[in-house]
Amino acid sequence: MLAIAVRPGSPGSVHARELDRPSIGDVPDGRGVLVRTIRVGLCGTDREIIDGLFGTPPEGADHLVLGHESLGRVEAVGDGVAGQLEPGTLVVATVRRSGTSPYDRIGMYDFTTDPPLERGINRWHGFLSEFYLDTEDFLVPVPASLARVGVLLEPLSIVEKGLAQADEIQRRLRIWRPQRAAVTGAGTIGLLVTLALRLRGVDVTVLSRRPAPYRNSDLVKALGATYLSTAGTSLAGAGRACGPFDLVFEASGHSPFAFEAVGALGANGIVVLSGVTGGPRPIEIDANAINQDLVLNNKVIVGTVNASRDDFVRGVEDLVRAERTYPGWLERLLTTPVHGLSDAGAIVTALADREAIKAFVVVDRSLDAAP
Ligand code: BGC
Repeated sequence: MLAIAVRPGSPGSVHARELDRPSIGDVPDGRGVLVRTIRVGLCGTDREIIDGLFGTPPEGADHLVLGHESLGRVEAVGDGVAGQLEPGTLVVATVRRSGTSPYDRIGMYDFTTDPPLERGINRWHGFLSEFYLDTEDFLVPVPASLARVGVLLEPLSIVEKGLAQADEIQRRLRIWRPQRAAVTGAGTIGLLVTLALRLRGVDVTVLSRRPAPYRNSDLVKALGATYLSTAGTSLAGAGRACGPFDLVFEASGHSPFAFEAVGALGANGIVVLSGVTGGPRPIEIDANAINQDLVLNNKVIVGTVNASRDDFVRGVEDLVRAERTYPGWLERLLTTPVHGLSDAGAIVTALADREAIKAFVVVDRSLDAAP
């Protein structure tokens, strides 16, 4: 079967390669589930891996199969698989695999203190192949009605985890009912955060660099949220005009926002950071002012990465609600398809397309052939 792989650490090594098709017998005790890949989303992490900046191959391998944002259909299940999965079920796989830390042992592998095992990223092959093998614990069933948009579940799971973290932390307040939020960044994550917050009835202001109108600002408007360009407004200015915010979700990867966001928060507010920002970026900040604001106003800054199975499951519910509340909106994020697994260069091109919201690989065309 065909797959797309890189030699981690070697920029430009992305290539299509032939691999043996896995078989359910490769997993002991009949627990194997063979999945036929339908679509795989591409993101900045894939770009960094392709550029040789990130990623680790599995032990003993010189290559890493890419792809961590999956959607597939169960092809076959082992006789030890007891639950909801049967041939034909649509599934999205979680990304992390369990290590041995106490968190891993209670299913919270997104909080592992081990070096992470992440499919398509770190020490485990990903999903950019015609088939992949996994076990039931890591496969989340998705209703057939989400076939066209289910590939957005992994990025949404990151959002779900960030919001769940905020809820968990803000239980300290006894009454936490966020009413106003700011989202920095209007890429896939920023748009999905805006969606999730709008589905929860929160008033949302999105800040991003590019002046409106353009595709992403139109998508923000379609959710009944406000779009502001940072060319005309600072985060502090947005806080004065539309805040103070109960929550700021940083999804632009512009790390100075981590500090600016504190000032745009109201008392007791929380900043959630989701950007994985590589390389140095020295800036000058007024450390006293930020420190004092955090202390005197009981504010919190929290980072969030990866997601647990529960976050994926909550994401499925939000995808269903989104299709009902904002029909057609999710599909508008899927701007940039790459067809098939034979042309690795097309993946590089799609990832470089600055107009793209979500680039994705169509691995199995049957969905696109469907009416
Ligand atoms: C993935 C996460 C992963 C992170 C760091 C992101 O692109 O969505 O699942 O933990 O990269 O490896």
